[in-house]
Amino acid sequence: MKLIKQNMYKRKKQMKTTSMLDKNIISLINEQIWLENNASFYYLYLSNQFAINGFSGISTFFKEQSNEEREHMLKLIDYLIDEDSTPQIPNYNFMEEMEEDFNILSHFENSLTNEKRVSSSIHDIVNNCKKIGDIQTENFMQWFVIEQREEETKFKNIIDELKIIGDDRGGLYQINKELGKLSDSEEEN
Ligand SMILES: [Fe+2]
Ligand SMILES: [Fe+2]
Repeated sequence: MKLIKQNMYKRKKQMKTTSMLDKNIISLINEQIWLENNASFYYLYLSNQFAINGFSGISTFFKEQSNEEREHMLKLIDYLIDEDSTPQIPNYNFMEEMEEDFNILSHFENSLTNEKRVSSSIHDIVNNCKKIGDIQTENFMQWFVIEQREEETKFKNIIDELKIIGDDRGGLYQINKELGKLSDSEEEN
């Protein structure tokens, strides 16, 4: 066991020195890994909140969002590994003190705020890549630029619908059902 650990450490050290990526870009991508992980746990928390308040469809929707964010994190981790760099695996203790009142609309508004924060961080990485001419990472990050646009639009549309619905129970019943199905169809793709 000790030997394996030692080997891993050696390999890690080697990785750090052989990467062709710019140090600043590596640290920005590591920050992005942290943000995606943050989003993944935040959506898992919201999935739980909706489940305990009887909205099983919206709960499924957020569970799927949480899985997507984890996939994004893994994509970035893989990129750093492929580029002989060392990804920093984030911890999730930041969720411990989180307490939000259950309000359907504000949960979605906070989710949109979170997505916007993620988008601006991704744009920041792209701008930094442009500055130093790292075309490869810039190209890799384009997938995230498109993904973020879709995410923001998705949340904006749901917020618009929720505003129309207001306190109408029938409308809430319907949107709960729809969002549960939306996650199903996204899983199939
Ligand atoms: Fe993401
Ligand atoms: Fe997202």
